[in-house]
Amino acid sequence: MTKTEQTKKLILGIDTSCDETSVAITQNDRILANVISSQVELHKKYGGVVPAIAKREHEAKIDFVIMEALKNAGRQLDKKLTIKDMDAIAVTYGPGLAIALEVGIKRAKEMCIEFDKKLIAVNHMEGHLLSSLGLNSKENGEINYRDLKYPVMGLLISGGHTQLILMKGIGEYELLGETLDDAVGEAYDKTARMLGLGYPGGSVLTEMAKKGDETTVTFPIPMAKNPSLDFSFSGLKTAVYYTVKKLTEDGTTLTKEQVYNFSRSFEVSAISQLQIKLEKAIKKYNPKMILVGGGVSASAKVRMGLRKIAKKYDLKIYFPTKKLSTDNGAMIALVGYFKSLRKEFSSLELDREPNAVLVSK
Ligand code: KG4
Ligand code: ZN
Repeated sequence: MTKTEQTKKLILGIDTSCDETSVAITQNDRILANVISSQVELHKKYGGVVPAIAKREHEAKIDFVIMEALKNAGRQLDKKLTIKDMDAIAVTYGPGLAIALEVGIKRAKEMCIEFDKKLIAVNHMEGHLLSSLGLNSKENGEINYRDLKYPVMGLLISGGHTQLILMKGIGEYELLGETLDDAVGEAYDKTARMLGLGYPGGSVLTEMAKKGDETTVTFPIPMAKNPSLDFSFSGLKTAVYYTVKKLTEDGTTLTKEQVYNFSRSFEVSAISQLQIKLEKAIKKYNPKMILVGGGVSASAKVRMGLRKIAKKYDLKIYFPTKKLSTDNGAMIALVGYFKSLRKEFSSLELDREPNAVLVSK
């Protein structure tokens, strides 16, 4: 092993915050393995995530997912890797489902005790915020963290959060605005359910919208004229609800075209709000670049809409790869790496924080 190889840090990252059991291994900012075991099929029939089922599944899968991650990462380095080779174990402590978070935290602590490793507590939203900084095994990626120019405007668009964050450095964040009610991903999912698209609906709605025409119905853009950098999506969701209710009250079901068109109009309104708020934030804070993270950034239309705003202000905008848009352990290991550089380790008393905030106003 060369000297630089020796100084490279191997971090194992765990995320069990919701319905994916994910474990990844990073070597500095390079992702060697990112294994995700999804529970979507199990929760589907209930129309949403059932915490007790999520916990049971995390418990059933976590050891297998850890072994797979070690195996895959070892293949990248041409050697057999074990927990002993790790420099630290990073784990999501929140936000997320309490009993689901507990599974990852418990396993992380057990490994730290058994193998005398350092524990790093990671906020799930910081993971999403920094997810576009992950390099692939060939050390290519969207952007290298050394090339970040501050201040960076962060836009988080997930199932639980919608936030604008000003980054003055990695680990130095200021909350500029957030949703006052539903998160944008939540609005996608609730609208999808109203349109009979099942769970999880966000990505299905995005597909339906591709065939739709936004001129047949117009939904409002909440908060468009509000000068703050806060968001709101419940009015949009309610508008879809009343439109659907009116058409189906007498027992008729929505036609395919109506589902396509409503999906499209919903998307247009949701994306417009994201664009308006991002533009307001750019004007006010003059960032040097933009980082986007969270599940909704998997949508090509959302990316296109946000790229348009960035282009208008001649700013570079970075998105995570598709696999890093939704929940994954790699983003947790990545934050773990940055925290390890700052020697921000956690005690073994670490407890889950279902409502953890990355930064408050
Ligand atoms: O970041 P994430 O995986 O989990 C949270 O931390 O919440 O985000 C999940 C959200 C869900 O609301 C899901 O519907 C949405 O991301 N989502 C999408 C797409 N893929 C996932 N929304 C729109 N288009 C997609 N392709
Ligand atoms: Zn997430």
